[in-house]
Amino acid sequence: MASRQSAFDLSKCARPNILALEPYRCARDDYKDDGTNILLDANENAIGPGLALNKDGKLTNDASNGSGPAIDIDLLGLNRYPDPHQIDLKQDLCSLRNFKAHTSKTLTPASLFVGVGSDEAIDALLRAFCVPGKDKILVCPPTYGMYSVSAQVNDVALVKVPLQIPGFQLDVPAIKDALSKDPSIKLAYFCSPGNPTGALLKKEDVKQILEHESWNGVVVLDEAYIDFAPDNASLAEWVTEWPNLVVMQTLSKGFGLAGIRLGAVFTDPAIARILNSLKAPYNISNPTSQLARAALDPKHLEVMHKNKDLILKQRERMLAELPKVPGVGKSIGGEESNFLLFEMLDAPADQGGKPSNETALAVYEGLAEEKGVVVRFRGKEYGCLGCLRITVGSEKEVDRFLQEIKVVLQNIFKKSGKLGANEEENREKEANAVVA
Ligand SMILES: Cc1ncc(COP(=O)(O)O)c(C=O)c1O
Repeated sequence: MASRQSAFDLSKCARPNILALEPYRCARDDYKDDGTNILLDANENAIGPGLALNKDGKLTNDASNGSGPAIDIDLLGLNRYPDPHQIDLKQDLCSLRNFKAHTSKTLTPASLFVGVGSDEAIDALLRAFCVPGKDKILVCPPTYGMYSVSAQVNDVALVKVPLQIPGFQLDVPAIKDALSKDPSIKLAYFCSPGNPTGALLKKEDVKQILEHESWNGVVVLDEAYIDFAPDNASLAEWVTEWPNLVVMQTLSKGFGLAGIRLGAVFTDPAIARILNSLKAPYNISNPTSQLARAALDPKHLEVMHKNKDLILKQRERMLAELPKVPGVGKSIGGEESNFLLFEMLDAPADQGGKPSNETALAVYEGLAEEKGVVVRFRGKEYGCLGCLRITVGSEKEVDRFLQEIKVVLQNIFKKSGKLGANEEENREKEANAVVA
């Protein structure tokens, strides 16, 4: 067949910053969710959706069966476009966060934007505030990767002001200085609790940035993991006090509903209006809004809280047990999320082991390839030398993880001849016990 004649040249036609993008590599590309792997890599909710399901995983109206109120997805209505405003869902989200802990004012739906996960909100804010090729955003490494991906898509440059080490808190003077010097910075993305740090940011630090004397920009606080932090930690309702504060949340983590893709922005009504004007009109599907509304019903919320308590219990267990594994170092992050950041050492601690990316990579690969336990290598991130980020699993998953990481580290040290003193002793005892 003769080739078609055309002047088309994709490499000169598409935007250069878009051509430079790599296709998104998702956690599930390498290790499938087919029941064979233990997936502690994507900070999903290990227990399940925060929905009162019966034992077959279904919603029925039969409360005796353990099920909460049925979700009546109107299948016959699916030929119609969904509601573009989602006022009822927004009201439910306001009711969830109106604690009256940070203000006496009350959040109302006019302060909300709902999107396809908080990832849509991250991008919408960039489009709303940053002129491509001109404006910038400020980020504080180590932090969530989508801020820079979305910035690149929008042809927006990054200004990086690293978090303070140790502790992973905001470096307020350095941030204020960067904002003073560069008026083209329009947004400052802070993550609280941080990913991958797990640390809640101090309210007082955020306040100091909000009160910046000369900077005309918006503070974006990403609270994706806030439901694993202490009660009332969310600053969502604080947006009623600050015209320059945006708080992003999601049902993907604490609520265990990553599959429905529902994120929310709490902000001043003037900013919410802009975001609602620029979004695609029907961004939230009907099944998504109905499932989200159900999840916010008290009967289902009870399950979400129970699931959260199970995760917090396993978080405590991992914090207590992991440092006992020879070759595991300190937890260097905060303890306010559903994941932990742990150092891997080049030798057991009793032999003076130091944090090592080589060990962390070998543990990451050994766990995934040999044991089907998938965690995240974060050793290349600022301040995270030798670190793995490990999502807190269910009790069974944590059992398996603790058992397997011990074996993997033992094998690594066996190869390098760096067994811990106790391990040497145990091996000697074991060898001695062999009768024949
Ligand atoms: C800090 C942070 N923000 C936002 C998101 C995205 O959440 P969503 O599923 O709502 O898009 C994630 C997901 O891992 C995250 O870690």
